[in-house]
Amino acid sequence: MTIVKVDIQGNPYDIHVEEGILGHAGEYLHPVANNGRLLVITDSNVEQHVWPKFQDALSKAGVSPALFTLPAGEQAKSWQHLEALTDWLLGKHVERSDHIVALGGGVVGDIAGFAAHIVKRGCRFIQIPTTLLAQVDSSVGGKTAINTSAGKNLVGAFHQPSMVLIDPAALETLPARELSAGFAEVVKYGLIDDPDFFLWCEENIQRFFGGDMDAREEAIVRSVTAKARIVAADEKELTGKRALLNLGHTFGHALEAETGFSNKLLHGEAVACGMVLAFRYSARMGLCDEGDAERVASLLGGAGLPVTLSDAGCSVDGKRLTEHMKHDKKRSGGQLPFLLARGIGKTFLSNDVELADVAAFLDEEGTR
Ligand code: GLY
Repeated sequence: MTIVKVDIQGNPYDIHVEEGILGHAGEYLHPVANNGRLLVITDSNVEQHVWPKFQDALSKAGVSPALFTLPAGEQAKSWQHLEALTDWLLGKHVERSDHIVALGGGVVGDIAGFAAHIVKRGCRFIQIPTTLLAQVDSSVGGKTAINTSAGKNLVGAFHQPSMVLIDPAALETLPARELSAGFAEVVKYGLIDDPDFFLWCEENIQRFFGGDMDAREEAIVRSVTAKARIVAADEKELTGKRALLNLGHTFGHALEAETGFSNKLLHGEAVACGMVLAFRYSARMGLCDEGDAERVASLLGGAGLPVTLSDAGCSVDGKRLTEHMKHDKKRSGGQLPFLLARGIGKTFLSNDVELADVAAFLDEEGTR
Protein backbone atom coordinates (compact mmCIF):
# COMPACT_ATOMS: atom_id res chain seq x y z
CA MET A 1 0.00 0.00 0.00
CA THR A 2 1.28 3.44 -0.92
CA ILE A 3 -0.20 6.75 0.16
CA VAL A 4 0.47 9.74 -2.09
CA LYS A 5 -0.38 13.12 -0.60
CA VAL A 6 -1.95 15.81 -2.78
CA ASP A 7 -0.90 18.98 -1.03
CA ILE A 8 -3.42 21.45 -2.42
CA GLN A 9 -3.73 24.49 -0.19
CA GLY A 10 -7.00 24.39 1.76
CA ASN A 11 -7.93 21.03 0.21
CA PRO A 12 -5.25 18.41 0.89
CA TYR A 13 -6.12 14.74 0.38
CA ASP A 14 -4.58 11.29 0.15
CA ILE A 15 -4.44 8.84 -2.74
CA HIS A 16 -4.33 5.24 -1.48
CA VAL A 17 -2.91 2.75 -4.00
CA GLU A 18 -3.14 -0.94 -3.09
CA GLU A 19 -3.88 -4.15 -4.92
CA GLY A 20 -7.19 -5.43 -3.53
CA ILE A 21 -8.19 -2.20 -1.76
CA LEU A 22 -11.70 -2.47 -3.26
CA GLY A 23 -12.22 -5.65 -1.24
CA HIS A 24 -11.79 -3.77 2.04
CA ALA A 25 -12.89 -0.28 0.98
CA GLY A 26 -15.29 -0.22 3.93
CA GLU A 27 -12.33 0.56 6.22
CA TYR A 28 -11.94 3.88 4.44
CA LEU A 29 -15.57 4.57 3.67
CA HIS A 30 -17.30 3.60 6.93
CA PRO A 31 -15.78 6.57 8.81
CA VAL A 32 -17.11 9.03 6.20
CA ALA A 33 -20.53 7.44 5.60
CA ASN A 34 -23.37 9.61 6.87
CA ASN A 35 -25.22 7.44 9.40
CA GLY A 36 -23.98 4.39 7.51
CA ARG A 37 -25.18 5.74 4.17
CA LEU A 38 -23.10 6.30 1.02
CA LEU A 39 -24.28 7.63 -2.36
CA VAL A 40 -22.43 5.83 -5.15
CA ILE A 41 -22.38 6.78 -8.84
CA THR A 42 -21.23 4.23 -11.41
CA ASP A 43 -21.91 3.10 -14.99
CA SER A 44 -23.49 -0.03 -16.43
CA ASN A 45 -20.14 -1.75 -17.20
CA VAL A 46 -18.66 -1.12 -13.77
CA GLU A 47 -21.93 -2.15 -12.15
CA GLN A 48 -21.48 -5.53 -13.80
CA HIS A 49 -17.75 -6.05 -13.15
CA VAL A 50 -16.83 -4.20 -9.96
CA TRP A 51 -19.96 -3.23 -8.04
CA PRO A 52 -20.80 -6.69 -6.57
CA LYS A 53 -17.39 -6.95 -4.85
CA PHE A 54 -17.49 -3.32 -3.75
CA GLN A 55 -21.02 -3.62 -2.37
CA ASP A 56 -20.01 -6.71 -0.45
CA ALA A 57 -17.01 -4.89 1.06
CA LEU A 58 -19.25 -2.03 2.16
CA SER A 59 -21.93 -4.29 3.65
CA LYS A 60 -19.28 -6.11 5.71
CA ALA A 61 -18.27 -2.73 7.14
CA GLY A 62 -21.89 -1.84 7.99
CA VAL A 63 -22.31 0.68 5.17
CA SER A 64 -25.47 0.65 3.01
CA PRO A 65 -24.75 2.18 -0.34
CA ALA A 66 -27.40 3.64 -2.65
CA LEU A 67 -26.48 3.27 -6.31
CA PHE A 68 -27.08 5.51 -9.35
CA THR A 69 -26.05 3.90 -12.65
CA LEU A 70 -25.21 5.93 -15.74
CA PRO A 71 -25.06 4.41 -19.22
CA ALA A 72 -21.47 3.43 -20.10
CA GLY A 73 -19.75 5.83 -22.50
CA GLU A 74 -19.00 9.47 -23.16
CA GLN A 75 -22.65 10.31 -23.95
CA ALA A 76 -23.38 10.10 -20.21
CA LYS A 77 -21.53 13.40 -19.67
CA SER A 78 -24.57 15.43 -20.76
CA TRP A 79 -26.95 18.02 -19.28
CA GLN A 80 -29.67 15.38 -19.43
CA HIS A 81 -27.77 12.85 -17.30
CA LEU A 82 -26.50 15.58 -14.97
CA GLU A 83 -30.12 16.59 -14.35
CA ALA A 84 -31.15 12.99 -13.68
CA LEU A 85 -28.19 12.55 -11.32
CA THR A 86 -28.76 15.76 -9.36
CA ASP A 87 -32.50 14.94 -9.10
CA TRP A 88 -31.57 11.53 -7.71
CA LEU A 89 -29.16 13.05 -5.17
CA LEU A 90 -31.76 15.59 -4.06
CA GLY A 91 -34.39 12.84 -3.91
CA LYS A 92 -32.05 11.04 -1.50
CA HIS A 93 -31.92 14.23 0.59
CA VAL A 94 -28.20 14.51 0.06
CA GLU A 95 -26.46 16.68 2.66
CA ARG A 96 -23.28 18.71 2.24
CA SER A 97 -21.60 16.37 4.70
CA ASP A 98 -22.44 13.34 2.52
CA HIS A 99 -19.62 11.87 0.49
CA ILE A 100 -20.65 11.22 -3.10
CA VAL A 101 -18.59 8.31 -4.42
CA ALA A 102 -17.56 8.08 -8.09
CA LEU A 103 -16.88 4.40 -8.86
CA GLY A 104 -15.75 4.08 -12.49
CA GLY A 105 -13.71 5.65 -15.25
CA GLY A 106 -13.19 9.25 -16.25
CA VAL A 107 -16.77 9.79 -17.43
CA VAL A 108 -18.23 8.77 -14.07
CA GLY A 109 -15.63 10.79 -12.12
CA ASP A 110 -16.18 13.91 -14.23
CA ILE A 111 -19.98 14.01 -14.01
CA ALA A 112 -20.21 12.81 -10.40
CA GLY A 113 -17.60 15.41 -9.36
CA PHE A 114 -19.47 18.16 -11.16
CA ALA A 115 -22.76 17.10 -9.54
CA ALA A 116 -21.02 17.13 -6.14
CA HIS A 117 -19.79 20.65 -6.88
CA ILE A 118 -23.20 22.12 -7.71
CA VAL A 119 -25.64 20.22 -5.51
CA LYS A 120 -26.37 22.27 -2.38
CA ARG A 121 -23.42 24.47 -3.46
CA GLY A 122 -20.95 21.69 -2.81
CA CYS A 123 -20.88 18.21 -1.28
CA ARG A 124 -17.90 16.04 -0.39
CA PHE A 125 -16.70 13.64 -3.07
CA ILE A 126 -14.54 10.50 -3.27
CA GLN A 127 -12.92 9.07 -6.40
CA ILE A 128 -12.57 5.30 -6.86
CA PRO A 129 -11.24 5.05 -10.43
CA THR A 130 -11.50 1.70 -12.17
CA THR A 131 -9.81 2.42 -15.54
CA LEU A 132 -6.10 3.06 -15.96
CA LEU A 133 -6.73 6.48 -17.49
CA ALA A 134 -8.86 7.54 -14.51
CA GLN A 135 -6.39 6.03 -12.04
CA VAL A 136 -3.37 7.89 -13.38
CA ASP A 137 -4.99 11.12 -14.53
CA SER A 138 -8.61 12.18 -14.22
CA SER A 139 -9.32 11.07 -10.63
CA VAL A 140 -6.58 13.35 -9.29
CA GLY A 141 -6.57 17.14 -9.46
CA GLY A 142 -10.25 18.07 -9.28
CA LYS A 143 -11.18 18.73 -12.92
CA THR A 144 -14.89 17.92 -13.34
CA ALA A 145 -17.12 18.58 -16.35
CA ILE A 146 -19.84 17.59 -18.76
CA ASN A 147 -19.88 17.96 -22.55
CA THR A 148 -22.20 20.28 -24.48
CA SER A 149 -23.10 20.63 -28.15
CA ALA A 150 -20.23 23.16 -28.40
CA GLY A 151 -17.63 20.59 -27.33
CA LYS A 152 -16.07 18.35 -24.72
CA ASN A 153 -15.64 19.37 -21.07
CA LEU A 154 -16.81 22.92 -21.75
CA VAL A 155 -19.03 23.19 -18.67
CA GLY A 156 -17.41 22.22 -15.40
CA ALA A 157 -15.60 23.23 -12.25
CA PHE A 158 -12.57 22.48 -10.13
CA HIS A 159 -13.83 20.35 -7.25
CA GLN A 160 -11.21 18.36 -5.39
CA PRO A 161 -12.07 14.92 -4.03
CA SER A 162 -11.51 14.32 -0.33
CA MET A 163 -9.93 10.90 -0.97
CA VAL A 164 -8.88 8.69 -3.91
CA LEU A 165 -8.78 4.88 -3.63
CA ILE A 166 -6.94 3.06 -6.44
CA ASP A 167 -6.99 -0.70 -6.89
CA PRO A 168 -4.57 -1.88 -9.61
CA ALA A 169 -6.39 -5.24 -9.57
CA ALA A 170 -9.45 -3.49 -11.07
CA LEU A 171 -7.46 -3.35 -14.32
CA GLU A 172 -7.78 -7.12 -14.71
CA THR A 173 -11.27 -6.76 -16.20
CA LEU A 174 -10.40 -3.69 -18.30
CA PRO A 175 -10.50 -4.24 -22.09
CA ALA A 176 -6.97 -4.34 -23.58
CA ARG A 177 -7.67 -1.30 -25.76
CA GLU A 178 -8.53 0.82 -22.71
CA LEU A 179 -5.43 -0.40 -20.87
CA SER A 180 -3.29 0.80 -23.79
CA ALA A 181 -5.13 4.12 -23.90
CA GLY A 182 -4.41 4.68 -20.20
CA PHE A 183 -0.75 3.76 -20.73
CA ALA A 184 -0.40 6.85 -22.96
CA GLU A 185 -1.13 9.04 -19.94
CA VAL A 186 1.44 7.08 -17.89
CA VAL A 187 4.13 7.70 -20.52
CA LYS A 188 3.12 11.38 -20.59
CA TYR A 189 4.56 11.94 -17.09
CA GLY A 190 7.95 10.68 -18.25
CA LEU A 191 7.83 12.91 -21.31
CA ILE A 192 6.91 16.00 -19.32
CA ASP A 193 9.81 16.14 -16.88
CA ASP A 194 10.97 12.68 -15.81
CA PRO A 195 13.28 10.94 -18.34
CA ASP A 196 14.05 8.18 -15.80
CA PHE A 197 10.36 7.29 -15.67
CA PHE A 198 10.21 7.23 -19.48
CA LEU A 199 13.13 4.79 -19.43
CA TRP A 200 11.30 2.74 -16.78
CA CYS A 201 8.28 2.57 -19.13
CA GLU A 202 10.52 1.35 -21.98
CA GLU A 203 12.11 -1.29 -19.75
CA ASN A 204 8.89 -2.49 -18.11
CA ILE A 205 6.29 -2.37 -20.88
CA GLN A 206 6.25 -6.18 -21.22
CA ARG A 207 5.76 -6.70 -17.48
CA PHE A 208 3.06 -4.03 -17.40
CA PHE A 209 1.01 -5.48 -20.27
CA GLY A 210 1.76 -9.03 -19.17
CA GLY A 211 -0.27 -8.35 -16.01
CA ASP A 212 2.58 -8.00 -13.49
CA MET A 213 0.84 -6.35 -10.53
CA ASP A 214 4.03 -4.82 -9.10
CA ALA A 215 4.77 -3.12 -12.43
CA ARG A 216 1.21 -1.84 -12.68
CA GLU A 217 1.26 -0.54 -9.13
CA GLU A 218 4.60 1.18 -9.67
CA ALA A 219 3.35 2.82 -12.90
CA ILE A 220 0.27 4.12 -11.08
CA VAL A 221 2.16 5.36 -8.01
CA ARG A 222 4.81 7.16 -10.09
CA SER A 223 2.09 8.72 -12.28
CA VAL A 224 -0.10 10.00 -9.44
CA THR A 225 2.96 11.25 -7.57
CA ALA A 226 3.85 13.33 -10.63
CA LYS A 227 0.28 14.53 -11.05
CA ALA A 228 -0.03 15.40 -7.34
CA ARG A 229 3.17 17.48 -7.54
CA ILE A 230 1.98 19.37 -10.61
CA VAL A 231 -1.59 20.11 -9.45
CA ALA A 232 -0.38 21.16 -5.99
CA ALA A 233 1.86 23.71 -7.70
CA ASP A 234 -0.88 25.07 -9.99
CA GLU A 235 -4.33 23.80 -8.97
CA LYS A 236 -6.35 25.95 -11.39
CA GLU A 237 -3.96 25.92 -14.38
CA LEU A 238 -2.97 29.55 -13.94
CA THR A 239 0.83 29.57 -14.01
CA GLY A 240 1.59 27.27 -16.94
CA LYS A 241 2.76 24.37 -14.71
CA ARG A 242 -0.48 22.36 -14.89
CA ALA A 243 -0.74 23.16 -18.60
CA LEU A 244 2.20 20.73 -19.09
CA LEU A 245 -0.31 17.94 -18.43
CA ASN A 246 -1.82 18.85 -21.79
CA LEU A 247 1.16 17.44 -23.71
CA GLY A 248 -0.23 15.83 -26.86
CA HIS A 249 -3.71 17.20 -26.19
CA THR A 250 -3.82 19.99 -28.82
CA PHE A 251 -2.96 17.60 -31.65
CA GLY A 252 -5.02 14.92 -29.89
CA HIS A 253 -8.06 17.17 -29.60
CA ALA A 254 -8.01 17.77 -33.37
CA LEU A 255 -7.86 14.00 -33.97
CA GLU A 256 -10.73 13.36 -31.55
CA ALA A 257 -12.81 16.11 -33.19
CA GLU A 258 -12.07 14.65 -36.65
CA THR A 259 -13.28 11.22 -35.47
CA GLY A 260 -16.37 12.73 -33.82
CA PHE A 261 -15.23 12.17 -30.18
CA SER A 262 -16.31 8.58 -30.67
CA ASN A 263 -15.07 5.07 -30.00
CA LYS A 264 -13.20 5.24 -33.30
CA LEU A 265 -10.41 6.95 -31.34
CA LEU A 266 -10.29 6.83 -27.54
CA HIS A 267 -8.98 9.89 -25.68
CA GLY A 268 -5.78 8.12 -24.61
CA GLU A 269 -5.20 6.96 -28.19
CA ALA A 270 -5.56 10.53 -29.44
CA VAL A 271 -3.15 11.73 -26.74
CA ALA A 272 -0.62 9.04 -27.74
CA CYS A 273 -0.66 10.10 -31.38
CA GLY A 274 -0.73 13.75 -30.27
CA MET A 275 2.42 13.29 -28.17
CA VAL A 276 4.24 11.67 -31.10
CA LEU A 277 3.16 14.58 -33.32
CA ALA A 278 4.30 17.12 -30.68
CA PHE A 279 7.74 15.46 -30.61
CA ARG A 280 7.97 15.17 -34.40
CA TYR A 281 6.96 18.81 -34.76
CA SER A 282 9.55 19.78 -32.11
CA ALA A 283 12.19 17.82 -34.06
CA ARG A 284 11.13 19.55 -37.30
CA MET A 285 11.62 22.91 -35.54
CA GLY A 286 15.12 21.83 -34.46
CA LEU A 287 14.13 21.79 -30.78
CA CYS A 288 14.80 18.10 -30.14
CA ASP A 289 16.47 15.15 -31.85
CA GLU A 290 14.59 13.11 -34.43
CA GLY A 291 15.76 10.10 -32.38
CA ASP A 292 13.76 11.27 -29.33
CA ALA A 293 10.61 11.51 -31.44
CA GLU A 294 11.20 8.00 -32.76
CA ARG A 295 11.78 6.67 -29.22
CA VAL A 296 8.37 8.08 -28.22
CA ALA A 297 6.71 6.56 -31.31
CA SER A 298 8.37 3.22 -30.70
CA LEU A 299 7.25 2.97 -27.04
CA LEU A 300 3.67 4.05 -27.74
CA GLY A 301 3.41 1.99 -30.92
CA GLY A 302 4.69 -1.01 -28.92
CA ALA A 303 1.75 -0.50 -26.56
CA GLY A 304 -0.64 -0.86 -29.51
CA LEU A 305 -1.33 2.87 -29.74
CA PRO A 306 -1.67 4.94 -32.94
CA VAL A 307 1.48 6.89 -33.84
CA THR A 308 0.63 8.23 -37.30
CA LEU A 309 -2.34 10.15 -38.70
CA SER A 310 -3.27 7.10 -40.71
CA ASP A 311 -3.15 4.83 -37.59
CA ALA A 312 -5.49 7.32 -35.92
CA GLY A 313 -7.93 7.18 -38.85
CA CYS A 314 -7.27 10.84 -39.70
CA SER A 315 -5.67 10.87 -43.15
CA VAL A 316 -7.01 14.32 -44.01
CA ASP A 317 -5.33 17.58 -44.93
CA GLY A 318 -3.50 19.61 -42.30
CA LYS A 319 -5.68 22.70 -42.65
CA ARG A 320 -8.77 20.70 -41.78
CA LEU A 321 -7.10 19.40 -38.61
CA THR A 322 -5.87 22.84 -37.54
CA GLU A 323 -9.43 24.20 -37.99
CA HIS A 324 -10.46 21.85 -35.15
CA MET A 325 -7.68 23.33 -33.00
CA LYS A 326 -9.33 26.75 -33.18
CA HIS A 327 -12.06 25.40 -30.87
CA ASP A 328 -9.53 24.30 -28.25
CA LYS A 329 -10.40 25.81 -24.87
CA LYS A 330 -6.74 26.69 -24.21
CA ARG A 331 -6.95 29.35 -26.96
CA SER A 332 -6.56 32.85 -25.58
CA GLY A 333 -6.50 36.15 -27.45
CA GLY A 334 -6.54 34.24 -30.75
CA GLN A 335 -3.28 32.45 -29.81
CA LEU A 336 -3.14 28.71 -29.17
CA PRO A 337 -0.40 27.60 -26.76
CA PHE A 338 1.39 24.37 -27.79
CA LEU A 339 3.30 21.92 -25.64
CA LEU A 340 6.62 21.23 -27.36
CA ALA A 341 9.77 19.45 -26.21
CA ARG A 342 13.52 20.03 -26.12
CA GLY A 343 13.94 16.30 -25.49
CA ILE A 344 12.43 13.49 -23.43
CA GLY A 345 11.48 14.95 -20.06
CA LYS A 346 11.91 18.50 -21.35
CA THR A 347 8.39 19.65 -22.26
CA PHE A 348 7.64 23.38 -22.36
CA LEU A 349 4.77 25.68 -23.28
CA SER A 350 5.26 27.65 -26.48
CA ASN A 351 3.19 30.61 -27.61
CA ASP A 352 5.13 30.99 -30.85
CA VAL A 353 3.48 28.33 -32.97
CA GLU A 354 1.78 29.38 -36.21
CA LEU A 355 -1.23 27.22 -37.15
CA ALA A 356 -0.34 27.53 -40.86
CA ASP A 357 3.04 25.94 -40.12
CA VAL A 358 1.36 23.18 -38.08
CA ALA A 359 -0.98 22.55 -41.04
CA ALA A 360 2.03 22.19 -43.39
CA PHE A 361 3.65 19.78 -40.90
CA LEU A 362 0.45 17.71 -40.71
CA ASP A 363 0.32 17.54 -44.51
CA GLU A 364 3.82 16.00 -44.42
CA GLU A 365 2.76 13.65 -41.60
CA GLY A 366 -0.20 12.50 -43.71
CA THR A 367 2.24 10.86 -46.14
CA ARG A 368 3.73 8.51 -43.50
N1 GLY B 1 -5.83 15.96 -17.39
C1 GLY B 1 -5.19 17.21 -17.30
C2 GLY B 1 -5.34 17.87 -15.98
O1 GLY B 1 -5.83 17.25 -15.05
O2 GLY B 1 -4.99 19.01 -15.85
